[in-house]
Amino acid sequence: MKNAIKLNDGHSLPRLGLGVWQIPNDDTAGVVSTAINAGYRLIDGAFIYGNEEGMGKGIVQSDVARDALFVTSKVWNSEQGYDKARRAIEDSLKRIGLEYLNMCLIHWPCPVKDQYVDTWKALIAAQKDGQIRSIGVSNFNPDHLDRIIGETGVSPVVNQIEVNPRLIQEKMRAENKSRNIVTQSWTPMGQLASFGAPAIVDICNRLERTPAQVILRWHLQLGASVIPRSTEVAHLTENLAAADFELSDKDMAAISALDEGQRCGPDPVAFEDE
Ligand SMILES: NC(=O)c1ccc[n+]([C@@H]2O[C@H](COP(=O)([O-])OP(=O)(O)OC[C@H]3O[C@@H](n4cnc5c(N)ncnc54)[C@H](OP(=O)(O)O)[C@@H]3O)[C@@H](O)[C@H]2O)c1
Repeated sequence: MKNAIKLNDGHSLPRLGLGVWQIPNDDTAGVVSTAINAGYRLIDGAFIYGNEEGMGKGIVQSDVARDALFVTSKVWNSEQGYDKARRAIEDSLKRIGLEYLNMCLIHWPCPVKDQYVDTWKALIAAQKDGQIRSIGVSNFNPDHLDRIIGETGVSPVVNQIEVNPRLIQEKMRAENKSRNIVTQSWTPMGQLASFGAPAIVDICNRLERTPAQVILRWHLQLGASVIPRSTEVAHLTENLAAADFELSDKDMAAISALDEGQRCGPDPVAFEDE
């Protein structure tokens, strides 16, 4: 398995990255630079995480050149609409201290607000202007995907959705794949709820791997990109090693059988928080 996935726009997305949600801004620079120096090349941030400055500092403090990194941000719900989204992208770039984002996502569709098509047009324009290399979405259902593609002719490269052993999202992952959109898994460890499941413990014992490694490996073998968060150096290193081993088809199926259709986060149909 290669370390990167080719996107439908020709760019390459690292399979495994660092998510920075809930990391305080003051701690983010240290975590990001440590992660990059340990081998991470993808950093998944967002305006609403409140730590874009820290993320930018961490990138500068790391030993790796900016052009070897893949930096993502997201347009928050309150910034939807063409003009607001364009400003939000410029503001994120300023806060992070970058000239371009590798990827920008619409964070949630907010279907009641019904501005995601205009927001998508803002991402398309920002891409044309060189502010963003790749454009994608997050928490989009099939009808939301079809609408932005139908109205603009431009397909997202990624749909970042909640996926973990308790919410395997088989249907939504297939919907993404059928449109040549990469699934990127958020909350990939599902609040650690499956760490003690007998199927996971059995695989860990046989392969001498940790629950985090087994679950992250399951994501990778599903064909997803995955963005676990950690502020612990030992966990950052442990999680990177998910790239170094193989799960059998039987073990993959045993993990997928833990599905309960149980979300950790909100349902995209209903989530409109600003
Ligand atoms: N698009 C969206 O709507 C959306 C929504 C939610 C999240 N996200 C993105 O997805 C990223 C990941 O999701 P998440 O932050 O919710 O959760 P997560 O990555 O599934 O889990 C994070 C938790 O796992 C622990 N952990 C990490 N590695 C571990 C290991 N090897 N052993 C034991 N525990 C470990 C962390 O604690 P330690 O710090 O102690 O390691 C932390 O408590 C976010 O940071 C964000 O970038 C996107």
